[in-house]
Amino acid sequence: MHILTLGDERLRQKAAPVREIGPAYQQTAEAMFACLHSGKGVGLAGPQVGIMERIFVVHIDGDAPRVFINPSILETSAELGVCEEGCLSIPGQYAEVTRPQAVKVQAWNERGKPFTLKAAGTLARVIQHEYDHLEGVLFIDKLPEKQRGKLTAKFARSLAGRRAARARAAASEGGQ
Ligand code: NI
Repeated sequence: MHILTLGDERLRQKAAPVREIGPAYQQTAEAMFACLHSGKGVGLAGPQVGIMERIFVVHIDGDAPRVFINPSILETSAELGVCEEGCLSIPGQYAEVTRPQAVKVQAWNERGKPFTLKAAGTLARVIQHEYDHLEGVLFIDKLPEKQRGKLTAKFARSLAGRRAARARAAASEGGQ
């Protein structure tokens, strides 16, 4: 399982509902948490690892790891909050994003158990960010066009830099 980055078409596709939450979803969730932790993130959605299904995982410091399958956001607060966000699919880029401060969400866990959760603050923000991934939406879409363009260009430059560094490393290894 590896994380797809900005430019991959799959990040822009809408994920399909999970038809039946069989035992395989416990392994999927475990693998997604492993990927999330190794990337030092707080949330990861299926499409980010090429799973085009409505599943995401969230693990915030001091909170239990949570799995959301076929989630619905039932309510969002009128009150908005502004906070800096990043995304494992756009590494190294951060921007302030405005979102509802609190949400009420309904979903199923990896064992097929339904639950309803009221969340506020960071948890509410991460849930909304991950939910957006299931719709093919990225946090940069929430930014003014000019800022989005700048951030995308910066990401493209950093990506090109990393690729060039990898190519140099591979070439020097090949020479030995
Ligand atoms: Ni993300």
